[in-house]
Amino acid sequence: MKYLSLLCLIFQTSLFGMNIDGFAIRYNGGELSILNQQKLPSEAEWIDVQTPEQMVEIISTLKVRGAPMIGVSAVLSLAQMAERGLSFDEIEKAAYLLRKARPTAVNLAICVDRVLDAMRNGGDYRAAILATAENIYREDTDLCASIGEAGNALIQPGERILTYCNTGSLATAGIGTALGVIKAAHAQGKQIHVYACETRPLLQGGRLTAWELEECGIPFTLICDNMAATLMQQGKIDRVLVGADRIAANGDFANKIGTYSVAVLAHFHGVPFHVAAPYTTIDPNCPSGDQIRIEERSPDEVRGYGKICWSPKDAPVYNPAFDVTPSSLVTSYILNVGNLSLEEFLQEAR
Ligand code: MRU
Repeated sequence: MKYLSLLCLIFQTSLFGMNIDGFAIRYNGGELSILNQQKLPSEAEWIDVQTPEQMVEIISTLKVRGAPMIGVSAVLSLAQMAERGLSFDEIEKAAYLLRKARPTAVNLAICVDRVLDAMRNGGDYRAAILATAENIYREDTDLCASIGEAGNALIQPGERILTYCNTGSLATAGIGTALGVIKAAHAQGKQIHVYACETRPLLQGGRLTAWELEECGIPFTLICDNMAATLMQQGKIDRVLVGADRIAANGDFANKIGTYSVAVLAHFHGVPFHVAAPYTTIDPNCPSGDQIRIEERSPDEVRGYGKICWSPKDAPVYNPAFDVTPSSLVTSYILNVGNLSLEEFLQEAR
């Protein structure tokens, strides 16, 4: 069945060309552009992408970010090379470069490997790359919709939901993961209220989630990360929804630095804590959270933001971009296949 849909897509793509008009990514006949997430929300700048090296820079500087979205962006960069007639060897070399642009989110490696497998399958490698890239994009929009549906079933009218980082349409090809659940609940008129943590150091919550929520007309309150505890103590949070960059086979998962503290707080206060992700974020080859490679980033991201530096210029810094939340703190896994307990997740991840 999978083969049949890939064949149909190859046929369609070669007849009509690939055309993607996404929220944060666009592709049309070899022209690729990315909404620069570094500049949001003050400026909506679209970057014209010309080379895979440029895409590596865009991914590693977080102009495009979010686990599913970096996978989608990398494969569309390979599709652009295919459409522009680059050789098999050139595309393969670029794939290896793109694959290691960021180390923690497994989606990037999984998506690039899918393209590598397709191009090595024999036949027209350029058509196979284009069809696989388009398939990955379209599949991610469907996965988000399924996650939204599965998670929405948990949400009661009037809930106050805390979320972390950005897991919406900027981070995926669809409505998002954790933020997709929130959007689905809002669309059903459940009168929810969102508390968005600002997410230091790069402020994906304060800049991007707040912007997305505003665009969708979802009522929200922006808080500094260190305010979550007080809100939970005051009984003002009913549920926590977060995304993931890599879920290990035992259910531990890596997500934006600070997620673990929110999980500990939720556990202490008896607030349900859910992780929402597509199957492309599960790494069956990674036995547990302590095996997940955590990206360390530039000290300047902690010393200040953009051109502003608020610390002594050379202040020593520790800047891990992600942390690991153990499965014992997770109430349930909201996946594209449904809302799973840890036991159900362990079977699914096998
Ligand atoms: O460093 P980022 O902004 O790419 O980190 C993003 C996150 O941690 C998200 O929560 C995760 O990728 C899930 S996005 C659906």
